[in-house]
Amino acid sequence: MNEPASDVYGQGDATFRAAGGETGIRKLIDAFYDLMVSDQAYATIRSWHPQQIEISRDKLTAFLCGWMGGPRRYNEKYGRISIPQAHAHLPITAVERDQWLACMKAALAQQDYPVALKEYLLRELTVPAQRIVETRAYRP
Ligand code: HEM
Repeated sequence: MNEPASDVYGQGDATFRAAGGETGIRKLIDAFYDLMVSDQAYATIRSWHPQQIEISRDKLTAFLCGWMGGPRRYNEKYGRISIPQAHAHLPITAVERDQWLACMKAALAQQDYPVALKEYLLRELTVPAQRIVETRAYRP
């Protein structure tokens, strides 16, 4: 009864609010990148990020604010973005997609979110993650 039904997420800014707004999303992304730099399981995708990972923390947090139905911080700060195009220079296959999603799953596990929200976010994030792999595969 305490957990909202997962079909509430995705409507308006429900997901953004459930994730704790900008502060909550920043906490999630800090956990995500802390894991990525410290756990060898994510070494490949970490090596593709800038040495100074701070900018990546800020960009992913900003993007996810809008993606979850909150303020479009990425567009405000950095301009337009297409997720597949932003990754087109990287050799991302299903292996690296799964590395990224596993890292996100581990970061979500550390958050004080309802289980339904964790499951919803991981499921929804697989959509752009898969699109990144497919866009690259179909590139001439
Ligand atoms: C499929 C697995 C993924 C991998 C391996 C990956 C890896 C990376 C890497 C290495 C960068 C830094 C690129 C650079 O600075 O040259 C990056 C940037 C970024 N990623 Fe991903 N990513 C993945 C999926 C996603 C997904 C699913 C999203 C969003 C839902 C996302 C959002 C972003 C954003 C917003 C940036 C910053 C883009 C920019 O402004 O340059 N990524 N990613």
